[in-house]
Amino acid sequence: MSYRDVYSAWQADPEHFWMQAAEAIDWTRKPSKALFDEKAPIYEWFSDGMVNACWNAVDRHVLAGRGDQVAIMHESPVTLSTKGITYRQLQDRVASLAGALRMRGVEKGDRVIIYMPMIPEAVEAMLACARLGAIHCVVFGGFAANELAVRIDDCQPKAIIAASCGLEPKRVVHYKPLLDEAIEIARHKPEFCVIFQREEEVAQLTPGRDFAWHGFQYGVKPAECVPVEGNHPAYILYTSGTTGQPKGVVRHTGGYLVALQWSMKNIYNIGAGDRFWTASDVGWVVGHSYICYGPLLTGATTVVFEGKPVGTPHAGVFWRTIQNHRIKSFFTAPTALRAIRREDPEGDWIRRYKLHELQALFLAGERADPETVQWAQKHLGVPVVDHWWQTETGWPIAANPIGIETLPTKPGSPSVPMPGYDVRVLDDEGNPAPAGTLGAIAIRLPLPPGTLPGLWNAEDRFRKSYLERFPGYYETGDAGYVDDDGYLYVMARTDDVINVAGHRLSTGAIEEVLASHPAVAECAVIGVADELRGQIPLGLLCLKVGVTTPGDQILREVVALVRERIGPVAAFKHACIIDRLPKTRSGKILRSTMAKIADGEAFKVPATIDDPAILDEIREALHGLGFPEAARAG
Ligand code: COA
Ligand code: AMP
Repeated sequence: MSYRDVYSAWQADPEHFWMQAAEAIDWTRKPSKALFDEKAPIYEWFSDGMVNACWNAVDRHVLAGRGDQVAIMHESPVTLSTKGITYRQLQDRVASLAGALRMRGVEKGDRVIIYMPMIPEAVEAMLACARLGAIHCVVFGGFAANELAVRIDDCQPKAIIAASCGLEPKRVVHYKPLLDEAIEIARHKPEFCVIFQREEEVAQLTPGRDFAWHGFQYGVKPAECVPVEGNHPAYILYTSGTTGQPKGVVRHTGGYLVALQWSMKNIYNIGAGDRFWTASDVGWVVGHSYICYGPLLTGATTVVFEGKPVGTPHAGVFWRTIQNHRIKSFFTAPTALRAIRREDPEGDWIRRYKLHELQALFLAGERADPETVQWAQKHLGVPVVDHWWQTETGWPIAANPIGIETLPTKPGSPSVPMPGYDVRVLDDEGNPAPAGTLGAIAIRLPLPPGTLPGLWNAEDRFRKSYLERFPGYYETGDAGYVDDDGYLYVMARTDDVINVAGHRLSTGAIEEVLASHPAVAECAVIGVADELRGQIPLGLLCLKVGVTTPGDQILREVVALVRERIGPVAAFKHACIIDRLPKTRSGKILRSTMAKIADGEAFKVPATIDDPAILDEIREALHGLGFPEAARAG
């Protein structure tokens, strides 16, 4: 069947399409139907089925005779270690951890926060929650205590599972003090914490509250898998919105399993026994879907990689890992390739390794610039598949489905919509934009299985953020266009979200931190183009009248403040002081005009601007700081 046949089959009978896909999942009770639309425009999938995610990801493979196959390969160039865990070992370890969590009172529906680096125990903790029907909420290690506290208060976990430390190339990330501080700040207090003590650092445990990972499991009865309803939340994953309060994306179990299993075979061309590696972090959606659940559901080997594309120890580490673990499909972010290309423009490191088992390279997390795609294609000699998705969708909206058919690639485009996604480009009035015309990208409801049914404890915000602007559609927040061949191009965000090194950040959240500095009267944060990270945040500050603190000191203080409140992941290093912010007459800050100026692009003076002279002041200020010189258009 061709891609066109498969997409048409879904269009013709979505219910049949997804019920058939659901056959690949082990259900304790089969669902009577796929789509539950009684609460439209809120849709659910497979709600009356009973299922367990951990059973499908682990136990069923042991039962099917794959017990001795490596399930998780931990490759850690930062600790110089490689370790494989078979499916049988994984089953024992996960059942034991789940048993210990249950002994301490964790049951179906309880929330558990996981705050860990890239070690197999992070995946085991996720699966142990899934085994019990507990809802996990993984928080990325690059977030500071304050961000962790915000998530603790929002999802109110019964327990937190953390590690003693993470290892960044130039420093040790001390998780335990961050965890203690977060619990101190948060209003909600977890009943207990489980700490995985790493050899590199043994953390001081808080008596009565903290348990060491191993001792905690000693002598407990392993837990069996608890069947849950198809619409039971498997996890909550927080992502950036337009304000400082992150959005808790909810993922229902049944639809997620069905969609991921479908995607592994049809998009990534991965089946049981294959080796698949996603170089991301379990703190992001990519890690949830394609480090943990996707490859394990399909019975493949997944790699948990603790390192960076460069510097751990060199720009060949990705290719060495692909060679040593005989990877068939590899998935990373364009930023990682840009970092490698910068150090290895001619691909010398690539030629040192035998990569003949590699069949495809997948890119996502940010727009893949054509130069990077072409560089990878040239040096790797395999299809480079840019594919587009979001935390909200959980799996790709648009891709080149090489498991069905390898379509011609077009650098700069994530190719075509996947079954389940009816993607439209709309103009401001919600009318279809003609081919080639930029507009807001929206998806006709219902979204397919696996996508978000809502936000944790925030149904109103869910409706406002995604469903209200274009009734009958899900608003993606991305802008782009479709070409004459039906290929999609995703060009920019339509909101205040920026993408820094494949990490999604809210400029509003950074602004809230800057505004809390006592010298700052007003501020704006914009994303400016960066060769390596795609975008970096730039802060523009207006000071209060009468401030005598030297400007340099204020700038150092705000940089430190963002690192302390949001975390190093914000990569906030640049700010400048200006006299006034450009605004419309109704008081809206003209962020996109400032971003154009910072990028040296031709900019139009908006007709609604209050005082056009401010734009020239900003242009001069930014040019003085080394940004390219922008010119007025027209
Ligand atoms: N825990 C704690 N801190 C973390 C972290 C983690 N898991 N991940 C990143 N950080 C820190 C980094 O150490 C860095 O801190 P620093 O300011 O002290 O140097 C900061 O957050 C910014 O990180 P990053 O932007 O990633 O910079 P980097 O210099 O560490 O690495 C790249 C640069 C390009 C190599 C890296 O950004 C990269 O590999 N990007 C790809 C991202 C990716 O795979 N995203 C997945 C989305 S699909
Ligand atoms: P996240 O929710 O962190 O996965 O970020 C999702 C956002 O990243 C999307 O809304 C896009 O803005 C951007 N993004 C992800 N993948 C791509 C891609 N392949 N092309 C363009 N933008 C992308």
